[in-house]
Amino acid sequence: MIASAPAKIILVGEHAVVYGYPAIAAPVSSLRATATITTQDHRSGLLIEASDINKVLPIVRANASVNDALTQTVQLVLSHFGLPAPNATIQLASGIPMASGLGSGAAVTAALGRAVAQAMHQTLHDDDLNRIVYEVEKLHHGTPSGIDNTVIVYEKPVYFIRDEPLRLLDIGSSLHLVIGDTGQPSLTKKAVGDVRRLHDAEPATIQPILAQIGSVVENARETLAQGDISALGALMNANHRLLQKLTVSSDALERLVAAALDGGAYGAKLSGGGRGGNMIALVAPDSVDHVRKALLEAGASNTYVTEVR
Ligand code: PMV
Repeated sequence: MIASAPAKIILVGEHAVVYGYPAIAAPVSSLRATATITTQDHRSGLLIEASDINKVLPIVRANASVNDALTQTVQLVLSHFGLPAPNATIQLASGIPMASGLGSGAAVTAALGRAVAQAMHQTLHDDDLNRIVYEVEKLHHGTPSGIDNTVIVYEKPVYFIRDEPLRLLDIGSSLHLVIGDTGQPSLTKKAVGDVRRLHDAEPATIQPILAQIGSVVENARETLAQGDISALGALMNANHRLLQKLTVSSDALERLVAAALDGGAYGAKLSGGGRGGNMIALVAPDSVDHVRKALLEAGASNTYVTEVR
């Protein structure tokens, strides 16, 4: 038995979404975290093996300590069902680069949550899983807006506003995106904390920038519904310039964004927490290969392609 969850990109609106403005995000279904379940009759308890992070968790029992994200996830699923840990081994694997704005943490949590439920022969509804993944995100990432868990659990493009019900997105024409990885891990918690300090120190400068990002997202929502790809590209560029002002870009991100635009992308911007991690470029289907090559030549450690529809 295998459970899984995808990576995600933020098309527009990161950082401002923490302050209540809308953002648009989409799953990257080709990049996934997986959890393989083997039922063990001869042992009592649950063993989690996370080879990517060189971790084997001790068998989880009812009152294990909960300072670890994986243990915390298991505990939340067990208490949701009010059941003891199943006798099983769950092997976690993730093809999603860590600390790079692609939501690897939330994807691993979602895959593990699904796997624990499957090992107990229970059905874990997406609404409940979404709450559980958000709890784990809160413990380990400070003040998450909730966008990562939402797009990853439902695996659909979303128009997201913090603390508001899920809204799926209306997409008029499918989007081809090339994702470029700077290869430089960056902790979202740090970038979000720095933006918060900047906001508190200079509210008169920062608040209007956040509001402008909010307007970019509203316009992007309309252009997406109309299928106007070139207008959407321009909005992504505007969003990137506003993110620069929030100090969350980096030299490597700037190089990749410039290379994508020179290579013919409609628009390009950092995606996620920034300061490193990944950027995205909106491209015509026949320029995917060209933009990929341009990104690799500009120093990308890897590129991924995804279609949003
Ligand atoms: O996890 P990341 O790096 O994709 O960042 C999430 C987006 C932020 O807006 C920067 C933070 C948040 O909680 O929404």
